[in-house]
Amino acid sequence: MTQPITTLIHHPYVAPAGFEAPQPGVFKASTVFFPTVAAMRSREWKDKSAYTYGLHGTPTTYALEERLCALEGGLQCVLVPSGLAAVALVALALLKQGDEVLIPDNAYGPNKAFAEGELKGWGITHQYYDPMNPQDLADRMSSRTRLVWVEAAGSVTLEFPDLTALVRIAKDKGVLVALDNTWGAGLAFAPFDLMPEEDVTVGVDISAHALTKYPSGGGDVLMGSVMTRDPALHLRIKLAHMRLGLGVGANDAEAVLRALPSIALRYCAHDEATRVLAQWCNSQPAFVQVLHPALADSPGHAHWKAVCKNGHGGAAGLFSVIIDTCYGQEQVDAFCDALKLFKLGYSWGGPISLVVPYDLASMRTTWPTHLERGTLVRFSVGLEAVEDLQADLAQALQLLR
Ligand SMILES: Cc1ncc(COP(=O)(O)O)c(C=O)c1O
Repeated sequence: MTQPITTLIHHPYVAPAGFEAPQPGVFKASTVFFPTVAAMRSREWKDKSAYTYGLHGTPTTYALEERLCALEGGLQCVLVPSGLAAVALVALALLKQGDEVLIPDNAYGPNKAFAEGELKGWGITHQYYDPMNPQDLADRMSSRTRLVWVEAAGSVTLEFPDLTALVRIAKDKGVLVALDNTWGAGLAFAPFDLMPEEDVTVGVDISAHALTKYPSGGGDVLMGSVMTRDPALHLRIKLAHMRLGLGVGANDAEAVLRALPSIALRYCAHDEATRVLAQWCNSQPAFVQVLHPALADSPGHAHWKAVCKNGHGGAAGLFSVIIDTCYGQEQVDAFCDALKLFKLGYSWGGPISLVVPYDLASMRTTWPTHLERGTLVRFSVGLEAVEDLQADLAQALQLLR
């Protein structure tokens, strides 16, 4: 007769199979049981045919990976603890000493910091290219180039590059292309097939995505994904992922699974409100430039139009303004402080609108020629009523008269 405490741990009750509900459930594990030693010895952790250890996959993480593949048009996916970890994993899996990576000058800042810090220390060089000038990318390619990053729209400045031209330049030289797909989220354009209506397939090799933003949608989860269509490339990433011990918590995976069914509706709502606000800001004299790819005079608008035809032709929920140089930093800060609904905070993609003033000069190799001079402020538009957000901007703008 076993003691109650043992029965408690090795309880014989097994709930009946066949439970079906809207959400796939939360499976939490480090340990995963094997039925026999033989099964343990023949474990297969490289694909989704079985389970070996919680770090390498559970029903919850497998389900999330598969749904993300459906969203972005990939075939394989790994989950990592943040969007930045997704960016870092790509480099860790694919680059070695002596290699070079080319990064757009408007890439997500910490991608550049990783290249300047860890990659440089490990003997992996980098160059920043002008994303709005494909020839600049072509000129910088060399026999050491192993990876080209692309980002659309660009971080903070939201200019939209000629993605297909950039991808073609790298592919012509047999160099892998990785996209930071956080802005597009699989909804604005198809990263693995940028020209779906044409016969030729032009697409990136890897899509890294900060699930922290639109897939999570709550501003309360950190997670990233790295997606591919090529099994051999996926295996390189998967092996690095395993050797680095990267994994995500089951509750976080479940939070993203819960939010995914509404991502298209939320993305559309962010997008519509953002267009209204960006358009309105365009008529405000304090702003010398408004950056939002769907605005006809925003840098790269024609490229955005050519590629973002999926669904309703999405443009996400971000826009930036450049504030006239006649206003000093203190006035710009006071404007941001005066906003009530737009909270001061990093990240985006959640229900609450956010604002961040940036020191753009320190973030770019040179001041981009397509940008007016001034102080840049970026807005992430949440899900509040757009008229309330516009009123909030209008009241804070009283300080810039
Ligand atoms: C374009 C882009 N990529 C990646 C990331 C990194 O995501 P995370 O905050 O999950 O590390 C961010 C975060 O702001 C981002 O804006």
